[in-house]
Amino acid sequence: MCGIVGYTGKAAALSPVLEGLRRLEYRGYDSAGIALAVDAGGPLWVEKRAGKLGNLEEILGDQVPASHAGIGHTRWATHGGPTDTNAHPHLDNEGKLALIHNGIIENYVELRAELEKRGHIFKSETDTESVVHLLSDARKAHHGDLAAAMREVCGQLRGSFTLLAIHSDEPGRIVGARRNSPLVVGVGDGENFLASDVAGFIEFTKHAIELGQDEIVDITSNSIVVTDINGTVLEPRKYEISWDASAAERGGYDHFMLKEIYEQPKTIADTLIGRVAGLDPEITAGIDLTGVTKVVIIACGTAFHAGLVGKYAIEKWSGLTVEVELASEYRYREPSVDANTLVIPISQSGETMDTLMAMRYARSHGARVFSVCNTNGSTIPRESDAVLYTHAGPEIAVASTKAFTAQLIAMYLLGLHFGRIRGVLSDAEQEAIALELAELPAKVEQVLETVEPLRALTRQFKDATSMLFLGRHVGFPTALEGALKLKELAYMHAEGFAGGELKHGPIALIDQGTPVVAIMPSAHSVLAEKMASNIQEVKARGAIIIAISDAPLASADHLIRIPAVHDFLQPVLAVVPLQVIAYEMAIARGNDVDQPRNLAKSVTVE
Ligand code: M6R
Repeated sequence: MCGIVGYTGKAAALSPVLEGLRRLEYRGYDSAGIALAVDAGGPLWVEKRAGKLGNLEEILGDQVPASHAGIGHTRWATHGGPTDTNAHPHLDNEGKLALIHNGIIENYVELRAELEKRGHIFKSETDTESVVHLLSDARKAHHGDLAAAMREVCGQLRGSFTLLAIHSDEPGRIVGARRNSPLVVGVGDGENFLASDVAGFIEFTKHAIELGQDEIVDITSNSIVVTDINGTVLEPRKYEISWDASAAERGGYDHFMLKEIYEQPKTIADTLIGRVAGLDPEITAGIDLTGVTKVVIIACGTAFHAGLVGKYAIEKWSGLTVEVELASEYRYREPSVDANTLVIPISQSGETMDTLMAMRYARSHGARVFSVCNTNGSTIPRESDAVLYTHAGPEIAVASTKAFTAQLIAMYLLGLHFGRIRGVLSDAEQEAIALELAELPAKVEQVLETVEPLRALTRQFKDATSMLFLGRHVGFPTALEGALKLKELAYMHAEGFAGGELKHGPIALIDQGTPVVAIMPSAHSVLAEKMASNIQEVKARGAIIIAISDAPLASADHLIRIPAVHDFLQPVLAVVPLQVIAYEMAIARGNDVDQPRNLAKSVTVE
């Protein structure tokens, strides 16, 4: 939620700041704004506009003053609507200090009341504006030391934040801080960067520094100082970014989502590579299964659906009891967790606040934490005992596709690992699963080669008011994922059901012409016949059946064939046509595919 960039260095600052915002726009697109420190001195140059970054770019013109340091923000609105005035940066009353923020300041009402009493004039409805006024006073109290002022202010804030500030009296300096919200440093040559994630500077440098909780960073073109909130200087934790800059480009595709759908054979192969025969001891060293009585998977949205599939595989292959919990609900019911609980948070971004908080709750009750994450250096893996990284590369489209299939692979790898070390899976079973896993990239490729006709078919249903998804066993979470994709992209009613549940209520939704996507269990499964009956039940009530199946199906009005595969692995193949349906439906209905309304890629607020 909200993308943040900062640049100071040898280049004219506008270009890297704008480029960073372009790459981070997927984090929020309600408004965009930039503040530049002007080389010639004088007031900061600030422009901000409601709406997408394009709106801001349109008004920039060629009157931008020479500047070598600046900050930029792309917003997902929380406090205050998406207006020009509420857009970041926010300024102090002298117009000398500019601040951008990602997160929520929970005590902003009391801070604002206090600041107004002291004579500060507020212009916006945001929680952020309180911080810039507070920082302005603190800077004066610290005789112009912006970093010291930032440390003091952080001590007064409650909630989550990434903050970046720039002051016109020190044009080359940017000070940042983070708590429960992401911020990374990009280390350049004669230039340095700050961003919500590495995509914000990936084209300029591959050298990064991760920042921990409550750390303050102070950068100029040739210095980076990281301190804790008390001012103690910390050793920077450096790492190299493995993602290629081209991975964050559309690469000839109309949309990032389409590119990411087509990348799946590669991202699945990358996530599997070197792991099928056994997970790296470096990964597994951090978790000891001794005494583990329960596994709890915590995740949100698409990652939650991956967890639901994971439950089937891990329970069956390892004999461990697995619960899957919505991270946003988990800690509020105060579940029983202890040192014999293994918690597995799943997160593409590694920054999802609900997942992070659920994980912290479990940790504080003694649980061991083994996370599954796609983003190196992000908070969730940093706070885990061990991590299994998915290798999906940067996922830019808000709707998750390749991260989901990579998360599924991670679930299978964990199931296989636990089954192996607990002696539940025989050698022959391990080998059979390993073989099937290794064949998945080629099978997904096969599915992708045959989905084109599905695009035309999808358009036939573009005016439908509702679409239902049915599945059984691992096909049920796949159905949930198909429905989520359609909701977020097509803005239409969509629901996923377990086939056997229909007759308990949802069948009343079926009307003449209701499109129903049925994910058929493998033809050899005992559930294939049961599902066939469920299809007859809805067909008899007027539904149009689009079946995803590895075998012919007479009752289907439209059949999408996928290759046969091990029962538990079927979601990896079956979800691909569901992603294509959602993608095509968004286009047919004139929606923004990569940046659907009201959403943001990384949900860093509760
Ligand atoms: O970064 P995370 O995997 O933790 O994100 C979790 C969800 O917010 C995410 O999967 C969301 O549901 C997707 N946009 C759905 O496509």
